[in-house]
Amino acid sequence: MKMKSHTTLLSIFAVSALAKLHEKADTTIGTYSLVATIPWSPITPSSVDQSVIYNGTYYLSDRSNAGIHVVSTSNNTQTTLITGFATNFVNKSLSPSTSGPNGLVVLPDRNEVYAGDGDGTIKVVDLFTNKVTANISTGSKKRADEFAYDPSSGIVVCTNPNEATPYVTVISAANRTVMGKVSFPNATELEQPAFNPDTKEFYLSVPSIPGNIGGEIAVLNLNNLTISRTYPVPDCAPAGIVFGPKGKLFIGCSESQIEDYGFATSYIMDVSSGNITSNITYISGVDQVAYSPFTKYFYASAYQDLTNGSRTGAPAPVLAVVGSNGTLIQSITTDNVTAHSVAVDSKSGVMVIPVKAKGILLYGLGSSGATNSSSGDKTPTTSGGTVISTTSSGRKEMMSRSVFAAALLSAALWLL
Ligand SMILES: *[C@@H]1O[C@H](CO)[C@@H](O)[C@H](O)[C@H]1NC(C)=O
Ligand SMILES: *[C@@H]1O[C@H](CO)[C@@H](O)[C@H](O)[C@H]1NC(C)=O
Ligand SMILES: *[C@@H]1O[C@H](CO)[C@@H](O)[C@H](O)[C@H]1NC(C)=O
Ligand SMILES: *[C@@H]1O[C@H](CO)[C@@H](O)[C@H](O)[C@H]1NC(C)=O
Ligand SMILES: *[C@@H]1O[C@H](CO)[C@@H](O)[C@H](O)[C@H]1NC(C)=O
Ligand SMILES: *[C@@H]1O[C@H](CO)[C@@H](O)[C@H](O)[C@H]1NC(C)=O
Ligand SMILES: *[C@@H]1O[C@H](CO)[C@@H](O)[C@H](O)[C@H]1NC(C)=O
Ligand SMILES: *[C@@H]1O[C@H](CO)[C@@H](O)[C@H](O)[C@H]1NC(C)=O
Ligand SMILES: *[C@@H]1O[C@H](CO)[C@@H](O)[C@H](O)[C@H]1NC(C)=O
Ligand SMILES: *[C@@H]1O[C@H](CO)[C@@H](O)[C@H](O)[C@H]1NC(C)=O
Ligand SMILES: *[C@@H]1O[C@H](CO)[C@@H](O)[C@H](O)[C@H]1NC(C)=O
Ligand SMILES: *[C@@H]1O[C@H](CO)[C@@H](O)[C@H](O)[C@H]1NC(C)=O
Repeated sequence: MKMKSHTTLLSIFAVSALAKLHEKADTTIGTYSLVATIPWSPITPSSVDQSVIYNGTYYLSDRSNAGIHVVSTSNNTQTTLITGFATNFVNKSLSPSTSGPNGLVVLPDRNEVYAGDGDGTIKVVDLFTNKVTANISTGSKKRADEFAYDPSSGIVVCTNPNEATPYVTVISAANRTVMGKVSFPNATELEQPAFNPDTKEFYLSVPSIPGNIGGEIAVLNLNNLTISRTYPVPDCAPAGIVFGPKGKLFIGCSESQIEDYGFATSYIMDVSSGNITSNITYISGVDQVAYSPFTKYFYASAYQDLTNGSRTGAPAPVLAVVGSNGTLIQSITTDNVTAHSVAVDSKSGVMVIPVKAKGILLYGLGSSGATNSSSGDKTPTTSGGTVISTTSSGRKEMMSRSVFAAALLSAALWLL
């Protein structure tokens, strides 16, 4: 067998050492910086909704463009806009309750996206062709909104938040049939559902309902289409929720929290008890949230946050990056128009935020040292988001230079 050259061996060992370091990279993963700006196309939107990254491709619902942007995160280019949505412009104005596309979810085992439309239908998108291949009616004339998916049972749940009695529609993905609905009488609206793989139950963020005016997390019983149990979320008006490490649910509180209660905080809940285990102080006005198992960070689009959590505070829109222990890692300045959407790659940690005046902003993990804020600061610090740059050099730089040097050194020592 032909010997590989020393340099080849060195790079093989360097890569394997890097991979080893990567596995325990929790504290070296670092903070984000802007690496690419994808211009809006065809028009600059005034109203977007949820986004997701799947297989290195970013999908963003855009009501103004009546479609879903498809952006490759490997070459930072918009490849297409998935069309066929009922945007329902009324005199050039959008109404989120009857416009679409809205929330969306990927069904990885089926290579489909389910996206909620403004006319109460769910559009099923084939991700190989980027075409709508089916419509599923939820029985509402107002929008179908946000989703969660259980791959083990093939069940999708979708919220219908704008009905007189808001409800959750339960769908079988295998035959695209509505199996029933769970109603929430007298709830003001419904927010994000999330699937808990540990208990195999769907959880739902309910902003306000009699009994839990400040909001609750409801757990659905799909066997008889009832609510199994509820956990109050004190003075929050919860919006986005997402599961992180086992049993930890990040709960983004919305702007109503600041207006109604005069303070700003989001929470991490231990769903085995319903106890709030972390307060993420001064992070409120949140809509979509995300979690990456690669970084073990939560991401909260605090686009309607106000300075110092004060009713009279100036708009302070940020994207908050939060450790799974509740520590605020980074706050990136965004806007209070389109930046209520955040997506993160589960394999690389690449994060994407839409900002109206700039475009679709891709952030990569950069230096490890610059932890620039912590929970308890009065005003979230800002970094990264105010810089416009289109370089791509930083995007794949997952480790700091010092960590890379350490990896090279350990590879070299291994060779000796
Ligand atoms: C970018 O990558 C995607 C696949 O991820 C490809 O379809 C597209 O053609 C590429 N665009 C450019 C400009 O290279
Ligand atoms: C749209 O605008 C026109 C002209 O201003 C007005 O006559 C019409 O009633 C409007 N339609 C709706 C649905 O508001
Ligand atoms: C996504 O990646 C998986 C695993 O590589 C692959 O099986 C699947 O076909 C991909 N889906 C799309 C839409 O590219
Ligand atoms: C879905 O419904 C739209 C109208 O909202 C229609 O134009 C389209 O053909 C339908 N698509 C399919 C695959 O049935
Ligand atoms: C669709 O599939 C579900 C199981 O996922 C089943 O319970 C239901 O009866 C099926 N409906 C139809 C109309 O085939
Ligand atoms: C909902 O509100 C109506 C009117 O206030 C009331 O009559 C009804 O009992 C309430 N239903 C529930 C389930 O709270
Ligand atoms: C639904 O099922 C649960 C047990 O799985 C039961 O406790 C509850 O009473 C049922 N509710 C209704 C309305 O049948
Ligand atoms: C939840 O909080 C209650 C009251 O503070 C406490 O008694 C209980 O031990 C906590 N449960 C867990 C699992 O932390
Ligand atoms: C979070 O804040 C709430 C309201 O200020 C307080 O009641 C609760 O004890 C705090 N919880 C933790 C874990 O800090
Ligand atoms: C926020 O609060 C701190 C102290 O509580 C105060 O020093 C600062 O001026 C406040 N900022 C604004 C913009 O009100
Ligand atoms: C919380 O997690 C962050 C990031 O993973 C870490 O840097 C920090 O030391 C942790 N803080 C505590 C108190 O454990
Ligand atoms: C959004 O922020 C701008 C300042 O950047 C402010 O003038 C505007 O009132 C804010 N809009 C809303 C709806 O809060």
